[in-house]
Amino acid sequence: MLNVAGLEVVIRRRGTTARVVRGLDLSVGAGQRVALVGESGSGKSMTARAIMGLLPPTASATGHVRFDGTDLFEAGWAGLRGSRMTMVFQDPMSALNPVFRVEDQLRAIARSRERSRLAALLESVAIRDPERVLRSYPFQLSGGMAQRVLLAAALVNEPELIVADEPATALDAEIQQLSLELLARRARDEGTAVLLITHHLGLVRAFAEQVYVMREGEIVERGPTRQILRAPSHEYTRSLLASVPRLSGAADG
Ligand SMILES: Nc1ncnc2c1ncn2[C@@H]1O[C@H](COP(=O)(O)OP(=O)(O)O)[C@@H](O)[C@H]1O
Ligand SMILES: [Mg+2]
Repeated sequence: MLNVAGLEVVIRRRGTTARVVRGLDLSVGAGQRVALVGESGSGKSMTARAIMGLLPPTASATGHVRFDGTDLFEAGWAGLRGSRMTMVFQDPMSALNPVFRVEDQLRAIARSRERSRLAALLESVAIRDPERVLRSYPFQLSGGMAQRVLLAAALVNEPELIVADEPATALDAEIQQLSLELLARRARDEGTAVLLITHHLGLVRAFAEQVYVMREGEIVERGPTRQILRAPSHEYTRSLLASVPRLSGAADG
């Protein structure tokens, strides 16, 4: 579904350039749950933004990002982004538009606009009172509720690929776990490909079948999650593992 090859991202800053992604290769098949893990600043979000065609104006990307066989750096993202491939951002409040009601924001992107379908969608992301939430402005929602709305927005058009960049990291462990459960269910039931981006190996263990470990713009290790976490061959992966408190899913924060 997604195939990234030789991805390079360069950022210009005050006359100098920084290579923040260096020759990155990565694949996510239909229905697969893949994690990209690395410490803060390793280039994970720049990778996600390059895949989605959402790099900041100071950044530029080369290499190949193929979606369902189409090279997006050549063909562009029109007709794909927001429908066949969607993204979930870290901070739900800044991703929602403060001046529109939830219903209007979902309608603006949804292919099907029936109110009953929107309400059912909200119920599917564990919103118990969808009618009230549809009528609400973002400031009237809790952070957890806003995160559910963003997930709903990412799911509304039944995408084939979801890139989730540190979903709900700003929120509590419970909503983090709920978000991942909902994404995993989509992968299983609809064959949606999910790329989870996180600095948190506990979430990787709970969620992903395959993991890519990123450090300073490069993939230093990759493979089946169980194998990599049980016997990391790279020093950096071992150090990431050492910094994770003993895992029981939601125990750390
Ligand atoms: N808008 C930006 N302008 C300039 N540099 C940036 C910008 N965003 C991120 N960077 C730099 O790019 C590198 C990679 O950042 P990022 O992809 O956000 O890392 P991660 O998501 O893994 O924490 C970091 O060195 C960061 O300082
Ligand atoms: Mg990031």
